[in-house]
Amino acid sequence: MDKLRIRGGRPLRGQIAISGAKNAALPLMAACLLTEETITLRNLPHLADITTLANLLAQHGVDIHLNGKGTSYEGRVVELSAKRIVSTMAPYDLVRKMRASVLVLGPLLARFGEAKVSLPGGCAIGPRPVDLHIKGLQAMGARIDIEGGYIVAKAPDGGLKGAEIVFPQVSVGATENLMMAAALADGVTTLVNAAREPEISDLAHCLIAMGAEIEGHGTDRIRIVGRKVLHGAVHDIIPDRIETGTFVMAAAITGGDLELIGARLDDIRSVATVLSGAEVAITETPRGMRVRRLNGHIVGVDVMTEPFPGFPTDLQAQMMALMCTAQGAAMITETIFENRFMHVPELSRMGANITVHGASALVRGVPKLTGAPVMATDLRASVSLVLAGLAAEGETVVNRIYHLDRGYERIEEKLSACGADMERLKETD
Ligand code: UD1
Repeated sequence: MDKLRIRGGRPLRGQIAISGAKNAALPLMAACLLTEETITLRNLPHLADITTLANLLAQHGVDIHLNGKGTSYEGRVVELSAKRIVSTMAPYDLVRKMRASVLVLGPLLARFGEAKVSLPGGCAIGPRPVDLHIKGLQAMGARIDIEGGYIVAKAPDGGLKGAEIVFPQVSVGATENLMMAAALADGVTTLVNAAREPEISDLAHCLIAMGAEIEGHGTDRIRIVGRKVLHGAVHDIIPDRIETGTFVMAAAITGGDLELIGARLDDIRSVATVLSGAEVAITETPRGMRVRRLNGHIVGVDVMTEPFPGFPTDLQAQMMALMCTAQGAAMITETIFENRFMHVPELSRMGANITVHGASALVRGVPKLTGAPVMATDLRASVSLVLAGLAAEGETVVNRIYHLDRGYERIEEKLSACGADMERLKETD
């Protein structure tokens, strides 16, 4: 397995181009199942999770054409055609690799009247059930049984019916799955207490371009009028706000000065607000945003993760890395996922002073971190160790970086171009 070797202590300076958003691209790719015409997605990031979903769609029979080598900073263009679907079954072997695979359930059921999708199973950051996806589809008339670890779903004879669905808890994936299903259902569907993440609006924009009628995306009440058929569309994927936030933390933790090209401040307002309290300056530029420290040091600030527009759980680990060398203490509370503090013992091995009490971690700032061999078990935890390594004295080796490759495009290339001393060690090195 590849590793990353980082020699810390160099301020990052320069420009980094932000890639297309992974969490927008995944539901957008699944949306191709809603039509027999071609969906063209531009600005597709080059990531392992994208390949995983492409493999799943291909086994359903989707014809996939990828243009661009994935080395250009403009991102790639993918054409997806679900004209000839050969199977409505999503097998365990593919779904278990990535929970977002469950996003094929709504579109398959809505268009073909049936779907058999493996339950994703547990993952490193907690149980992550899919009950909200299932209950929503049942409210639209689907008959759903769990058989042998699979969700076996059938739509009534006339297809799915519009319904009012009130989510007891905000779920990004369930909002996306049901929005896609509702776009082909008979009648009006209203999603109440819906997720408001920018990725939801990105999906809504694409569905609207495909002929769907959707109002209220970006609010907690989305109204979808179902259509009999949807057609093809061309859509630009939004920039990745989590990659943006990660590089914001990278500039701050190293005392550097970065311009993030293509980044959208509106998508990370809560992060910018929290970081201004930590004395990190984030300003808009004509091409994106600029990040640097305000007074040469970072100040400890408290933060709690929340659904959008709150502080994203996907930036919690990176924020914790930043707080490790802040002046003063920071209380970091995780409200979205259980068991999302796996980075804590690894950061501690680098000299951080962190105490976990239930869903909160108290980080007492230390003057410096020191390099160490470290390892993480999920994507965001891994990148928090990269950030810590960039700031630490000495050498850090981050093991198991296949997690990073799931969500960060050419991270070592992007950071090295701004002065980071880091290299990928191939398995054979
Ligand atoms: C998406 C993101 C992920 C992010 C998360 C929260 C993608 C591909 N992934 O994941 O990076 O961390 O949003 O912002 O977009 N829940 C249930 N029942 C369900 C569904 C969810 O109890 O049926 C719970 C989950 O366990 C979790 C919470 O709801 O505690 C939020 O999960 P959800 O918003 O659904 O996350 P994902 O869509 O899986």
